[in-house]
Amino acid sequence: MILVTGGAGFIGANFVLDWLAASSEPIVNLDKLTYAGNLHNLQSVQADPRHIFVQGDIGDTALLNRLLAEHKPRAVVNFAAESHVDRSIHGPEDFIQTNIVGSFRLLEAVRAHWTALPEAERAAFRFLHVSTDEVYGSLAPSDPAFVETRSFEPNSPYSASKAASDHLVRAWHHTYGLPVLTTNCSNNYGPYHFPEKLIPLMIVNALAGKNLPVYGDGMQVRDWLYVKDHCSAIRRVLEAGTPGQTYNVGGWNEKPNIEIVHMVCSLLDELRPRTDGQSYKQQITFVKDRPGHDRRYAIDARKIERELGWKPAETFDTGIRKTVQWYLEHADWVASVQTGAYRDWVQTQYAVAEPQAVGAAA
Ligand code: NAD
Ligand code: DAU
Repeated sequence: MILVTGGAGFIGANFVLDWLAASSEPIVNLDKLTYAGNLHNLQSVQADPRHIFVQGDIGDTALLNRLLAEHKPRAVVNFAAESHVDRSIHGPEDFIQTNIVGSFRLLEAVRAHWTALPEAERAAFRFLHVSTDEVYGSLAPSDPAFVETRSFEPNSPYSASKAASDHLVRAWHHTYGLPVLTTNCSNNYGPYHFPEKLIPLMIVNALAGKNLPVYGDGMQVRDWLYVKDHCSAIRRVLEAGTPGQTYNVGGWNEKPNIEIVHMVCSLLDELRPRTDGQSYKQQITFVKDRPGHDRRYAIDARKIERELGWKPAETFDTGIRKTVQWYLEHADWVASVQTGAYRDWVQTQYAVAEPQAVGAAA
C-alpha cells in the first residue's frame, strides 16, 4: 500500500491511473479537491477496490495520523501543491499554506509513523517529494542546463514555496534520518492538464474560437516532458533511488512558447480544421508579460539516466500529437472543468492582459 497526496490533480491522477494499470499494490489517495483536483480524472478507477480516495488536506495532522495508522503505507508520494505561477502572483497565501505549511505537517506525521515502524519496514520506507525545476531560477540562453547541485534561486511565490518545501524535505533527512527522495521535473503536458496552463489553454481556446494569449514576446523557453514519462520517472526513483538524493527529470525538449503554440495550431489545423479554412494561428494574440517571468528552464537529466536507467519514452512530436488528440476526444472532460470558478480565473487573469498586437503571428 502506498499513500499518494494530490492524486486528483493533473500529474497525480496520471500517476494513480498508471500505477493501478501496472501494479496490484493499492493506493490511498488524499486530495483536498481544490479547483485543480477533479474526480472526473479518476472515473475509470472509481469502482476499483485498490483505489481508496480520501478528500482532505495535507495540513490536517489528525487526518494524516489516522490514515497512516489505518493503512500503514510503505511509501508516501507527495504531489499535493498549489501549482500555477500566475495564481501565485495574484494570491500567494494558499501557496504558503499548502506548499510550505502543508508539506511540513505531512513530513511531521510521516516521521512519527516511520519512527514507530519495525526495523525492516523502517529501512524500506520512502517519502518521495515531487518538485519542480523552477526552484533553480532562470537560465540565460547559453547557460548549461540545471544540474542537481545548482543553488536555488526561485523567482515567483510558487517556486519560492516549492523551494522551501524541498529544503524541509532535505532537512528531515539530514536531521531525523527520514528516507526521502526528491524529484525536480520540467514542464509536463498530456491528458487531464488543467486548461489554465499553456498547452491545454491554447487547445481549448483555439477550439472555442478565442484568442491564444502569448505572454510578452513568446520567446521564453520551457523544457517539455510528457506526463506519463514523469510518472515512470517517479516510479523508478521510488523503486531504486538513494534516500537523501534529488533527481532532475526532463525530456531534453527545450522550446520557446511561440513554437509550442504554433505546433498546437498546426495539429488542430490538421485534425480539426477551422470551418473558414483559416489557420488557428490567426487567433494568436501577444499580451502583457507575466511579472518576473523566468526566461528559460532546461533540465540536465543525466543523473537519473546514469544511476537509475530512466529515459523518456515520448518525443515532443509524439507526445503533443497524443495530447491534442486526447483533448479532441474529451470535450466532456473539458466542459466539466470549466466551472464558474474557472471562468472567474480567466476573467481575472486575461481581462488585465491587454493585447499588444492582435491577429496572426508569423
Ligand atoms: P495540479 O494543480 O494539477 O494538482 C494539484 C493537486 O493537489 C490537486 O488535485 C489539488 O486538489 C491537490 N491539493 C492542493 N492543495 C492540497 C492540500 N492542501 N491537501 C491535499 N491536496 C491538495 O498540479 P500538478 O501539475 O499535477 O502538479 C503536481 C505536483 O508536481 C506539484 O507538487 C507541482 O509542484 C509538481 N510539478 C508540476 C509540474 C507541471 O508541469 N505541472 C512540473 C514539475 C513539478
Ligand atoms: O517547470 C515546471 C513548472 O511548469 C511546474 O512547476 C508548474 O507547476 C507548471 O505550472 C509549469 O509552470 P510554467 O509557468 O512554466 O507553466 P505555464 O503553463 O503556466 O506557462 C508555460 C509558459 O507559457 C510560461 O513561459 C508562461 C507562458 N504562458 C502561459 C499561459 C498560461 C503564456 O504565454 N500564455 C498563457 O496564457
